[in-house]
Amino acid sequence: MTEAHPIGLSIRGGVKVYPGTRALKGVDFDLRMGAVNVLVGENGAGKSTLMKLIAGVEEMTEGVITMNGREMHFRDKADAVAAGIGIVFQELNLFPNLSVAENIFIGHERTRAGIDIDTDTQREEARKLMERLEQPIDPDTILGTLRIGQQQIVEIAKALALEAKILILDEPTSALSAAEVEVLFRVIDELKAQGVGIVYISHRLEELIRVGDYITVLRDGTITGARSMEGVDIPWIVQAMIGSSSKEYGRTEVTEFGPEIFRAEDITLPRTGGGYTVDHVSLSIRAGEIVGLYGLMGAGRSEFLECVMAQHPHSTGKFWVEGKPLVERDVPGRIARGIALIPEDRKRDGLIQIMAIRENLTLSSLPAFTKLFHLNLKQEAERARDFIKRLTIKVASPENPVSSLSGGNQQKVVIGKALMTGPKVLLMDEPSRGIDIGAKAEVFRTMRRLAAEGLGILFVTSDLDEVLALSDRIIVMAQGRVTGEFPAGTDAAQVISATTPNAQVPKEAAE
Ligand SMILES: Nc1ncnc2c1ncn2[C@@H]1O[C@H](COP(=O)(O)OP(=O)(O)OP(=O)(O)O)[C@@H](O)[C@H]1O
Ligand SMILES: [Mg+2]
Repeated sequence: MTEAHPIGLSIRGGVKVYPGTRALKGVDFDLRMGAVNVLVGENGAGKSTLMKLIAGVEEMTEGVITMNGREMHFRDKADAVAAGIGIVFQELNLFPNLSVAENIFIGHERTRAGIDIDTDTQREEARKLMERLEQPIDPDTILGTLRIGQQQIVEIAKALALEAKILILDEPTSALSAAEVEVLFRVIDELKAQGVGIVYISHRLEELIRVGDYITVLRDGTITGARSMEGVDIPWIVQAMIGSSSKEYGRTEVTEFGPEIFRAEDITLPRTGGGYTVDHVSLSIRAGEIVGLYGLMGAGRSEFLECVMAQHPHSTGKFWVEGKPLVERDVPGRIARGIALIPEDRKRDGLIQIMAIRENLTLSSLPAFTKLFHLNLKQEAERARDFIKRLTIKVASPENPVSSLSGGNQQKVVIGKALMTGPKVLLMDEPSRGIDIGAKAEVFRTMRRLAAEGLGILFVTSDLDEVLALSDRIIVMAQGRVTGEFPAGTDAAQVISATTPNAQVPKEAAE
């Protein structure tokens, strides 16, 4: 196997020091060509940092990078690109108001005779890339109108356009549907066959085992395991990651729910050009209940949550909180009434990058809430510290900017921020995206605890195991409508069949 996969790039003694943090503490890493090199570890372990060194985005504090025996010095990303290295970043780095084609070629525009930008060629190449990734996206589409998963695919297309010999994918599938992941895996197989060396980072451990040829585990800036994927299973990975085997997120058995805490009646969100993104949805949640909203990408689940949060002025329908009509028409008004939303796109909607972690956490906590519970600033800072501890957010100091946190830890800040508003109804859009297995268990335990305290929780997930394990009740949406409602303990096949109400579900998909 080793001969078939020559080492294309090596790091020896890699050290990276950020102000206040030693992110990498002497790392040796070999990247094999024609293979998928998987990188795994807890949030803040140093995965993205290691990749940023290879991609020329961050400079190494100590250590050497060699390619084919030659020592490399990447001063910036362009140097790494010139050496054949491409990266898809964990956080999307696209321009929402440019087209798909413009985003793909930004920084390496196709030109006519090296002078003006050849938009026709760019459009044509973008179309081919979209075809290769099996996405029906017009290259002229404005990026910001695409859903997050599709934006992630554009980000992948952008890296493919470079035709890199080494391709780094930092959590490329966090917003992708199962079908989209399959397409990506097919593309990865093609690239492997062409001899491309791929680095693949993900918190979806099943995915790693499927796609990986080699695995490297990082823990707290140190490599704790590196081997061929042969014989590796999930317990092995978890052991190497956190030093003990899996943490479970058990359901608590108490299912004594309180009275209805939230009701939505006949909610619609008209689509431009006819039809509805949210098509006359009605549902209710009781205090203490966790309701899972399951469905395929584009089913209208996120949009429904956004309607509840008053983010769509054109939506119609009525809401009630604790039996009283929700007449407030704007976001602050709804927060004041006890609604909180943890959005899907944490970077855009959730956080202010330059502000301190503490400030971000307490950002939405309203004066009303402050008065009600007699909080003062000191107590609020204490609560920020408490949340940092409870959600195991890896910070050097709460006063550091959010931008200094690893991707997964930023997500935890968004979750903490919503919890700090003291909501009655908590809306969570893909709450476990991008966070490691230990933190995931912690988030799920927190959801359980909050429900036990009397909150009503509505969460959107695309992970079937998650919705089955965590929900007291499952509501399925498809094409904007509610197509099924199931009690806890329903088997997977039934839930899946409700996601495509007009089709026969093939047997394999139901397993
Ligand atoms: N720009 C920065 N300034 C200061 N510290 C940073 C910066 N970027 C990362 N760090 C710190 O370096 C450590 C490693 O972060 P890194 O982003 O590499 O983690 P990761 O393994 O990618 O985690 P995740 O799974 O959450 O994405 C963390 O403690 C993080 O807070
Ligand atoms: Mg990362």
